Amino acid sequence: REVEPEPAIVDSPKVIAHRGANDRFNESTITAYKIAAEDGVDALEIDLRMTADGALIAMHDETIDRTTNGTGNATDYSLQEIKELETSEVFGEQRTMEEIPTLREILETFRDTEHYYIETRLVHGELVMEEPLIELLLEYDLLSQDLVTIQSFSEESLEKIQTLAPEIPLTLLFGKEKFNLKKAKTSDYPIIGIEATDVTMKSVNELHRQGKEVHVFFTDEVTTRKEQERVYELNVDGYFTDDIRFTKELLKKD
Ligand code: G3P
Ligand code: CA
Repeated sequence: REVEPEPAIVDSPKVIAHRGANDRFNESTITAYKIAAEDGVDALEIDLRMTADGALIAMHDETIDRTTNGTGNATDYSLQEIKELETSEVFGEQRTMEEIPTLREILETFRDTEHYYIETRLVHGELVMEEPLIELLLEYDLLSQDLVTIQSFSEESLEKIQTLAPEIPLTLLFGKEKFNLKKAKTSDYPIIGIEATDVTMKSVNELHRQGKEVHVFFTDEVTTRKEQERVYELNVDGYFTDDIRFTKELLKKD
């Protein structure tokens, strides 16, 4: 008998704005998040880095080279120095610039009107961003309203979050070509994040049977739309999308 996809765990799969609407404005900026929010997404995805003086900022890469007019590691800059830089990107014929936001500025902008899907990581091998992160989320009263999901490739980081705030849903991420179904199935985490090309019907079905959601991220720009269509057939539960409008259309969401 042919294997059929299991139903999704959620009623309506989640559209997660990967670094904001990064197809229309500089990734991980307030404007990119505002565009995503206007589009009506289920969550804003935010990668965290920590400055030399301990501020949490929205930035994906370890270095500031690709996305800003500076060079070097984000962690070597103080917050004041980070604020003197600008993100810089070309869309069509226009170069757009905007400062790097702190997590606090993002939370101050959207307060409790959005769901935040925050990615933590170790800083120089240390678990130092988790405590200030939870403090900030409590300050903005987001946890009692279920407005936060935390994701990480680092199990250590997720364990620490779990100790500090057990109510937060956690997503264990697996890097491209590193997906391990056995580990995902036996992990404590309710959501598993997998790179699109690693997603198979067997994995999705087995994770669904364990009651786990499967959220998919995409690393290959050329095949992203095709991969979104492919994983749609497998009833995955969330899309970290770089193309919000396409994903909403695919999922027939208003
Ligand atoms: O957080 C899901 C996805 O963002 C993981 O990959 O490298 O884009 O953070 P990355
Ligand atoms: Ca991320």
